[in-house]
Amino acid sequence: MTGPGEEAIGVALLPDAPADLPGERTVSEAAAAAAGIALVMGYRDGMLSLWRPEGREKPLAVDFGAGRMGYRLAAERARHERLVRAVGKQKGLLVDATAGLGRDAALLARAGWQLILLERQPLLHAMLADALRRDAEMGQRMQPLRVDSLTWLQQRLHSDLPRPEVICLDPMFPERDKSAAIKKDLAWLQQLCGGTSEGEEIALLAAARALAGKRVVVKRPLRAPPLGGVAPSHALPGKTVRFDVYLTSF
Ligand SMILES: C[S@@+](CC[C@H](N)C(=O)[O-])C[C@H]1O[C@@H](n2cnc3c(N)ncnc32)[C@H](O)[C@@H]1O
Repeated sequence: MTGPGEEAIGVALLPDAPADLPGERTVSEAAAAAAGIALVMGYRDGMLSLWRPEGREKPLAVDFGAGRMGYRLAAERARHERLVRAVGKQKGLLVDATAGLGRDAALLARAGWQLILLERQPLLHAMLADALRRDAEMGQRMQPLRVDSLTWLQQRLHSDLPRPEVICLDPMFPERDKSAAIKKDLAWLQQLCGGTSEGEEIALLAAARALAGKRVVVKRPLRAPPLGGVAPSHALPGKTVRFDVYLTSF
């Protein structure tokens, strides 16, 4: 079993992976494959990526300009995304406390928000940071921090620093897309991140609601109960996911 923030067994770092990343190292992709290691991390096409050693699948990297993500990110479309509507019209500081691959955060950055991204999984944080170094425009809007959100939210509450207006939470990686490529990405991510316990989810929601100046937005699978069983102020349902909005006012 791996604890929160620790790399899962079965991932090895290639020699070109950043030196400060924790975890097992391997001398080559071939050596990793021979040792039965499930995933390796290194650079592919100039991007810090995760892939199956000697596998044929497309490596997983964070790339804000690529494919479907690039399309969704076109500024015109970003304004209409349900998530963009769920967070509201203010354009101050937004904290994405479960940043993952930064897909939701990127939409919000394009819609004009300034974001702090919290991610505790070191390899995911490293992929995010790598993408933000390559993309100057997004890099100016998003600051990725490798931290546990619960600790960060509680420390911020007891500091003199300004409250974020909005805090977003999306703690689970449920299957939301039937395409084989997305299923593969999800399986790899689930292997890296493990789960979030119900107790953790309840604590995260409570800490976010105590800190957010205007609202907390939680992404849920369409038919799932609200996070921690706490009813939201209102919800924006879509085809497969729902955004639960908790209004706060300080
Ligand atoms: C479902 S993913 C988020 C996906 C993200 N919304 C996106 O658009 O890519 C959940 C992420 O939250 C992270 N996470 C869960 N609990 C956390 C915590 N307490 N602190 C920091 N990160 C956390 C996990 O490591 C995982 O990467």
